[in-house]
Amino acid sequence: MEKLIFATNNQNKVNEVRKVLGNLFDIVTLKEAGIDIDIPEPHNTLEANATEKSSTIYTLTGKNCFSEDTGLEVEALNGEPGVRSARYAGEHAAFEDNVQKLLLNLKDVDNKKAQFRTVISLIQNGIEHQFEGICKGKIIDEKRGTNGFGYDPIFIPAGSEKTFAEMEMEEKNLFSHRKKAMKKLIDFLTQNV
Ligand code: IMP
Repeated sequence: MEKLIFATNNQNKVNEVRKVLGNLFDIVTLKEAGIDIDIPEPHNTLEANATEKSSTIYTLTGKNCFSEDTGLEVEALNGEPGVRSARYAGEHAAFEDNVQKLLLNLKDVDNKKAQFRTVISLIQNGIEHQFEGICKGKIIDEKRGTNGFGYDPIFIPAGSEKTFAEMEMEEKNLFSHRKKAMKKLIDFLTQNV
């Protein structure tokens, strides 16, 4: 089975991706590959940050790898927090701080439409390929549920009544941005091994 490094330090993302991949591909995390770095996300787009992460790891290891960058894009906030989703409430903000800031900014706003967008960057034999996944939905006024991570407790995907945080991972993966991008990655990999 082909081994692929997943350039992330976020264990929640690793768990979700492993669930989608099953035993199709063998994912090696940065930790498992013995790489201890905090990869910077200095750019203004998810695309550029995803490239930054995968190319950093490819340069370091010379091995095929992929990364992903995800943002929550809120319509009434002109796409914010978007690429700054992890740092919305400040440089090393906790998930909770980011959620509270978003709830505050949407307090008197009627339009709660939002979408998660994931961009995966794969570097295979030195060549980059990108895959996008979008999940449309809305933000609610109060947190609900304890599963998942990040903005999951305040996001309801279109077609459900539950927040992502009220779903088991299998159910989140029926809707998820990350799953949709992963599906494109898997289709590409299965045609290009
Ligand atoms: P990044 O891709 O690590 O930069 O993620 C940005 C931020 O978006 C994370 O810190 C989370 O707060 C949020 N995020 C990313 N993916 C998800 C998700 O699937 N559910 C909820 N929040 C997410």
